[in-house]
Amino acid sequence: MDPNRVVIFDTTLRDGEQSPGISLNTTEKLEIAHQLARLGVDVIEAGFPISSPGDFEAVRAIARDVHGPVIAGLARAHAADVERAAEAVRDAERPRIHTFISTSDIHIEHQLQSTRADVKGQARAAVAHARSFVSDVEFSPMDATRADVEFTAEVVQIALEEGATTINIPDTVGYATPQEYAAFLRRLYELAPGLRDVVLSVHCHDDLGLAVANSLAGVQAGARQVECAINGIGERAGNASLEEIVMLLATRADDLGYTTGVNTREIARTSRMVSRLTGYVVQPNKAIVGRNAFAHESGIHQDGVLKDRSTYEIMDATTIGLEGNDLVLGKHSGRHALKSALEELGFKIDGQALNTAFKRFKEIADRKKHVTAMDLEALVTDELRDELRSYSLEWFDVDVSNRRPPHARVAVRTPDGEEVVGDFTGDGPVDAIFRAINAATKREARLREFRIDAVTGGQDALGEASVVLELAGQSASGQGVSTDIIEAAAQAYVRALSHAERKVLVVEEAALPEVELTPTP
Ligand code: KIV
Ligand code: ZN
Repeated sequence: MDPNRVVIFDTTLRDGEQSPGISLNTTEKLEIAHQLARLGVDVIEAGFPISSPGDFEAVRAIARDVHGPVIAGLARAHAADVERAAEAVRDAERPRIHTFISTSDIHIEHQLQSTRADVKGQARAAVAHARSFVSDVEFSPMDATRADVEFTAEVVQIALEEGATTINIPDTVGYATPQEYAAFLRRLYELAPGLRDVVLSVHCHDDLGLAVANSLAGVQAGARQVECAINGIGERAGNASLEEIVMLLATRADDLGYTTGVNTREIARTSRMVSRLTGYVVQPNKAIVGRNAFAHESGIHQDGVLKDRSTYEIMDATTIGLEGNDLVLGKHSGRHALKSALEELGFKIDGQALNTAFKRFKEIADRKKHVTAMDLEALVTDELRDELRSYSLEWFDVDVSNRRPPHARVAVRTPDGEEVVGDFTGDGPVDAIFRAINAATKREARLREFRIDAVTGGQDALGEASVVLELAGQSASGQGVSTDIIEAAAQAYVRALSHAERKVLVVEEAALPEVELTPTP
């Protein structure tokens, strides 16, 4: 393999999914994983199988269904974790187990309440156990950048002796600076020379806004795998953003000399899909995928770009897939046209799913003259959101007037199939319908965040609502899409309620093995 080829390890579905309020179901995770495969990432970290039955199922489904990338499952350095991860990735074309244990004294003393000697023993046992299941094993000394480099090198050496094939050095709390991080990696190469025979990987968090800079410094120090997430999502301030690191390596290839296998034209679509399904909005000025990343506001800049784009643009928007989606359908388009438009967008839909999508498409086409590629993407991702055993919105009436408080009446189908009705007089129509849903379901959910965006421009644009609510201490998000913003909002609320209720049930049943997720991997 080209010595300057950088492996892109995507952790959107693992570290990214650990962001507060994100709760993806298996269908949504599968859809994202398929899109990551189209994007051309080398490794998909599909989840943390022992953390919940849902995570296990999703990793297993991805391992069975998604072809191309290596599929990795995360495991603490415990036999049970490793076994669960091994079972989840077993059917992948190229399975990987990623096991980790902290090497910083802060973590060893305060979190693990253990000793350096124990950490060495656990690391040895976990890597050896993982190697008994798969030949591709990644080992991470967690919180490495706050750890003693000599001790970390000893643990890395043990992982190498037991057959680890990738060694990942996490800047778990986003504390390192680029120079320090590079120096740490160079020192590890000196102390554990066997590192040169495996892939060295970087995993940087963005607490100080240095995740991408640190990842680049790591690559320049010899790392050939970068762990990153779409839109930079992840614990706290998130992970290095995939689109930034990939476009940095592509745009400055002449100077830096590295390559990746990513098809950059899929970046914009992947970013939109992840944002939509997670409910995490991309800030407008975000590098590469923010809506202003290619917008020019000042007269001088506009003048320059009209004369020659290179005056103020270092990248071409088409290289990340931001332009060229000129596909348009209308109300006379048939099922076949919809199917091929969806295929062009990368969605393979047949049978019942196609019938449902066609029904939704017709409803929208009746209210909206042109249905664009962006609308279709929003519609299909919206369809993925409904799950078995969740609440669903049946119908609603909202009376709105500026002379009396708005009143909402709503019917919701419960997970048991019963139709329940509730009503409420609220401060505004959205408040009224949210509280009417609480009344119908007899749940005391509290709204934490609410947002409504237009999918495209124009008066008849689809509205996309996003809700974060809290129920019995569990927060969860939900999204909804409709030409009617009240309907989109109600749909989003009902889905968030379903997610929250599922989380509450999991906690109540305490059916899970205890998994300490904070401070997180
Ligand atoms: O941030 C971290 O240390 C992690 C490890 C599991 C790689 O996510
Ligand atoms: Zn992490």
